Amino acid sequence: MQEHAFVIRGDFCWSRTPQELHQVRNGWLVCENGCSAGVFPELPERYRNLPVLDYRGHLIVPGLTDLHVHAPQYTFRGLGMDLELLDWLNTYTFPEESHYGDLAYAETAYRRFVEDMRHGPNTRACVFATTHVDATVLLMDLLEKSGLVTMVGKVNMDRNCPDTLGEGSAEASDRHTRDWLRRIQGRYERTTPILTPRFIPSCTDDLMERLGRIQKETGLPVQSHLSENPGEIAWVQELCPFSKFYGDAYDAFGLFGGENCPTIMAHCVWSGDEEIARMKERGVYVAHCPDSNTNLSSGIAPVRRFLEEGVPMGLGSDVAAGTHVSIFRSMSEALQVSKLRWRLVDPSRKALTAHEVFYLGSVGGGSFFGKVGSFDPGYELDAVVLDDRRYTPQSGMTLEQRLERMIYLSEDRDVVHKLVKGRALF
Ligand code: GUN
Ligand code: FE
Repeated sequence: MQEHAFVIRGDFCWSRTPQELHQVRNGWLVCENGCSAGVFPELPERYRNLPVLDYRGHLIVPGLTDLHVHAPQYTFRGLGMDLELLDWLNTYTFPEESHYGDLAYAETAYRRFVEDMRHGPNTRACVFATTHVDATVLLMDLLEKSGLVTMVGKVNMDRNCPDTLGEGSAEASDRHTRDWLRRIQGRYERTTPILTPRFIPSCTDDLMERLGRIQKETGLPVQSHLSENPGEIAWVQELCPFSKFYGDAYDAFGLFGGENCPTIMAHCVWSGDEEIARMKERGVYVAHCPDSNTNLSSGIAPVRRFLEEGVPMGLGSDVAAGTHVSIFRSMSEALQVSKLRWRLVDPSRKALTAHEVFYLGSVGGGSFFGKVGSFDPGYELDAVVLDDRRYTPQSGMTLEQRLERMIYLSEDRDVVHKLVKGRALF
């Protein structure tokens, strides 16, 4: 009856809204043609002859989405955290990213990044590469082979960076971007391009105009950085005196959301009323990156407010300003910084809950990819099977408690099976 169908047995948790956590203990998840047909407490008669993956006693959650990660920065995680953003970029990041002009270097580094991502709990990611076309295509080839589903951006930069990384001119950056898009056309099933102006300080108005044109022609999504650090924000105001606020500088070039321009902006730590209103109006996604915001002393994003206002949002590792790619880690970090924000910054808005961060890391970010991040019927089937038995020798823990503990404790080695769009990665 079904072209490609099977059943997974185990203990399931998934969310639909920030408030609702669904749980089925000892249930049956049916996968048909890469999508969920639902989780059932008893296996319905019509599915009785399907093959069964038996993971009884394991906790099974939807695959997690990393909405913001820099693949070339994986090599220097944990270094230079004494600096703020702009100094960190100049001292560590730009010199490291310059190495990706060397394909042999890129291959060694990108293999490690992809291998680690493949084994952890993430099934989707929006990835920054570097300005180099060859290395970006190499990264996309490796990601495609991994079975993960990713959006990958060749980065655009034509000012305020070393010559080894910058593209020399807006015209060259435009040409490289078009070459890159031509080279990957029709090449992948699970890997798609996303336009990636690094941030306003790296892109001249001329380049932003050109990228706005490419976006209109192609309808491609966009990812960048927004309102991360006070020094950065002041600089953007100098560079783009016409802008009313940082996000308005992207908007001036047609690179800030709207129906035909799906957009992710990382950080939004210092977004004010006008910026938040514009993001809400345009459906711009926030990639909340709590580890990065702590490490670079950027601040604490107003996540409760984004949730209250219905600004779409997910979590990002932001490696290498963040140190780990597991979005479980980002969930616990989001919980922790939200408590500090409540205590130290804004006692009028409550800290986040475990449900809420689980929502953000699964269906919150997953929704940028479509129907992703949930086990509700019709969602693409991304599932992570966790062997949490070593954490729960004691009996009587609820599924919800087991999930809460995995948010804080889980390690990549706990992921014993992983499905992306219904396909097993290992
Ligand atoms: N803003 C521009 N580039 C970067 C980057 O690589 N990391 C972070 N955290 N912020 C940025
Ligand atoms: Fe970043």
